[in-house]
Amino acid sequence: MAELAYRAEALTRTYGEGASAVHALRGVDLQLPAGEIVVLLGPSGSGKSTLLNILGGLDRPSSGRAWFRDRELTAMTDRQLTRYRRDHLGFIFQFYNLMPSLTAEENVELVTEIARDPMPPHEALALVGLGARRGHFPSQLSGGEQQRVAIARAVAKQPDVLLCDEPTGALDSTTGREVLGVLQHLNQSLGTTVLIVTHAAATAAMADRVIRFADGAIRSEERNASKLRAEEIEW
Ligand SMILES: Nc1ncnc2c1ncn2[C@@H]1O[C@H](COP(=O)(O)OP(=O)(O)O)[C@@H](O)[C@H]1O
Ligand SMILES: [Mg+2]
Repeated sequence: MAELAYRAEALTRTYGEGASAVHALRGVDLQLPAGEIVVLLGPSGSGKSTLLNILGGLDRPSSGRAWFRDRELTAMTDRQLTRYRRDHLGFIFQFYNLMPSLTAEENVELVTEIARDPMPPHEALALVGLGARRGHFPSQLSGGEQQRVAIARAVAKQPDVLLCDEPTGALDSTTGREVLGVLQHLNQSLGTTVLIVTHAAATAAMADRVIRFADGAIRSEERNASKLRAEEIEW
């Protein structure tokens, strides 16, 4: 059995109490091998972000346990979770959260200045195909380019895992494919584990493993026998 990046047992997450309580996760069991591209597909409101946030140490479950490798996330203090995020994770969200007053390269530097073993910012930008745009400000870049800066920022610290929440949600299909291509390239060239949660079913074509999610629970899980390159995905 391959090394696991994540394991989860009976995770639940309830927001609020009593009659108005929302059961965002209803008992999630999960094993994610390291080094794979995993796409977790589900409709809006099904609990995908809630699960990603728990695996990413940004939130805690109401019950159940989760591990990163052999370390139990659900037993960590807030300080330990902060260190876990800093040392091991890159996050990519639907909205890029770039600093508008900083260039692409300076946005990446914000992260590399505090990382343990970062790659030079210009290298990270070259990896996502933006070497020539490093002096541009976010307002001078397209949506897809801004998302690639955000990806460069996430990968510059050489994380073990990239956690991506609707990474193509704000992009048109061509640009979305390009961004997925960058994630695939990083997985192949650096061995980074990539977890993408999305409602965009087409994304599943590039996954090693597809997990279908609905109403706070896993409905099915399959290995993708013939995965496509991101450029080949039909939207
Ligand atoms: N902070 C919160 N407070 C209350 N309800 C929340 C909160 N975050 C998410 N929810 C609810 O939990 C459910 C799952 O949300 P979410 O994990 O964001 O789903 P998805 O990412 O699949 O769209 C939804 O019904 C959502 O409204
Ligand atoms: Mg979400």
